[in-house]
Amino acid sequence: MNLAPPSHIHDPFSGAGTTAIEASFEGFQASCVEVNPFLHFVGKTCIDWSIDATEAARQLDAISQIYSNTVDGATLDNIAELGVEVPKIHNVHRWWRNDVLKDILVLKSAIRSCSEDRYRSFFELALAAVLVPDFTNVTLGKLQLHFINKDNHEINVWPTYECHTLKMIGDLSDINRQALNVSPRIVFGDSTQVSTFRDIIGVDAVITSPPYPNRYSYIWNTRPHLYMLDMISEAKEASQIDRRTIGGTWGTATSELGKGVFAPIDPVVERALDGVHGNIAKSDQLMANYVTHYFNRLFIHIQALRPSLNSGARLAYVVGNSWIKGEYVATDVILGKIIEGAIPGASIEGLHRFRRRNSGKDLFETIVYARVPI
Ligand SMILES: C[S@@+](CC[C@H](N)C(=O)[O-])C[C@H]1O[C@@H](n2cnc3c(N)ncnc32)[C@H](O)[C@@H]1O
Repeated sequence: MNLAPPSHIHDPFSGAGTTAIEASFEGFQASCVEVNPFLHFVGKTCIDWSIDATEAARQLDAISQIYSNTVDGATLDNIAELGVEVPKIHNVHRWWRNDVLKDILVLKSAIRSCSEDRYRSFFELALAAVLVPDFTNVTLGKLQLHFINKDNHEINVWPTYECHTLKMIGDLSDINRQALNVSPRIVFGDSTQVSTFRDIIGVDAVITSPPYPNRYSYIWNTRPHLYMLDMISEAKEASQIDRRTIGGTWGTATSELGKGVFAPIDPVVERALDGVHGNIAKSDQLMANYVTHYFNRLFIHIQALRPSLNSGARLAYVVGNSWIKGEYVATDVILGKIIEGAIPGASIEGLHRFRRRNSGKDLFETIVYARVPI
């Protein structure tokens, strides 16, 4: 892309904040937007370089003391005395074994004893990292979490947590803080809203990966974290966030897609889709609506982002193509046309199909390169 620091790199679908982290390591200014409160928290916490490794190790010892002083006397019935509650996720005992849940909640309460927000966030991030792979009765299938039985697994909450946190503290000691003289901004918001971009100005390059049109729900898969870190407390909230995501397809989002026929919101989207939604509708109207809605929202996103872009700005969108109901959805080509239609004078500089997904025929991930006119 031939960009030089301190150019401004923006990621409107930030996820765990990888773009912001890498951009800051290279000395670029960076900004990001993320709609999922948990992923926003992950990104924000990961880019907080002010955490001191020695101080974090000292605070981990204090957490360890509190944990070991409370864990034996605690039960799920008296856990409220520690200032924490059993998460209100549906069927909580399917998600976590009782003994594991009790230990996680004792740990959560010990982490809460940190008086400084940034250290508390650091230790909560460590808990989030081990929560699903090590403590929760699930495994990640092709697109979503599946329950599995962990009754006979050896699950040791404190040693697992401590080991992971010490690795994170080790990583902190390795950071070259001198190189990090820029602080990225991670905004909590919806990248299809003009208001989200109000304070994001002078973007020289967008490097991003929006969700793919494959019905993967980032909300569905982060529910254990969202509930455990008290970011939501009822299913309605999760489905409301999913509705705001691009490609969200869970709860309310799905029931809305099931109503009527969704049309392209602009001739640009109509031309870009080139009839693919109509072909899908012959066998499945809900999926046709899903695809139309997905590209409508990408179009609205590009329009909302446009005022933040400097003239000559470069765009790189990583997207995935999909087969839906026997129709090939070439997301890369469609997005290219949407960018050209939404930004007058923009040009597509290339579609770099860089790998096949799921070893499926024609299932590519592509970088769509574009340029805003000078
Ligand atoms: C493919 S992931 C990005 C992964 C990221 N590059 C990383 O390395 O972690 C897409 C992200 O877009 C977010 N997202 C979906 N719809 C959004 C919207 N309307 N506004 C902002 N973020 C959104 C999702 O929550 C998800 O984190």
